[in-house]
Amino acid sequence: MEQTFQGMGKENLNITIHFIPPKILPKMKTNSKKTEVATGLRELFEDSLKDIYYAEKALTKALPKMANKATSAILSDAILEHLSVTEGHVNRLEQVFDLLGVKPQAKKCEAIEGLIKEGEIIIESTQEGVVRDAGIIAASQKVEHYEIASYGTLVAFAKTLGKTEAVQLLTETLEEEKVADTKLSAIAESAINEEADE
Ligand SMILES: [Fe+2]
Ligand SMILES: [Fe+2]
Repeated sequence: MEQTFQGMGKENLNITIHFIPPKILPKMKTNSKKTEVATGLRELFEDSLKDIYYAEKALTKALPKMANKATSAILSDAILEHLSVTEGHVNRLEQVFDLLGVKPQAKKCEAIEGLIKEGEIIIESTQEGVVRDAGIIAASQKVEHYEIASYGTLVAFAKTLGKTEAVQLLTETLEEEKVADTKLSAIAESAINEEADE
């Protein structure tokens, strides 16, 4: 079915609207649609777990290098402390995989690869000292924000799927990522940014 409207502008504007008669729209069964969404969400949840599992494992290798390049002992210690926390995150994710009855598996996370690479470039392009430290903090905070976003989503998915124990484990990690981010901000504000400015 087609209807044509004529506009009132300088040029005559012809707008054609196509109507789809409701009869030809496919009929959706509400229950099967719900099942489809649940299956899709469960797959997306597992996929996102594999992504962050890869990211956490990659970070266990990247963090010692970052700590090693930091001049400030406070910064270096904070990164090393977060390394042991990160190892705990890997462990928690393995527990979540277990709860789902799925073998822990990592799927390449392009985002973390990029963020780690960015950190390496900052280290290469700055001189050792306060400026490089400020760069290391900036790169580390981008990583923390990526993790906060990822775990926030995972918690929401787990809640929707009714995986209570997974919600608990993922929330614990989410809170630890937030603590790490706050700590990095405090280090930056206390000394490094001020000195880097001189
Ligand atoms: Fe983490
Ligand atoms: Fe982290």
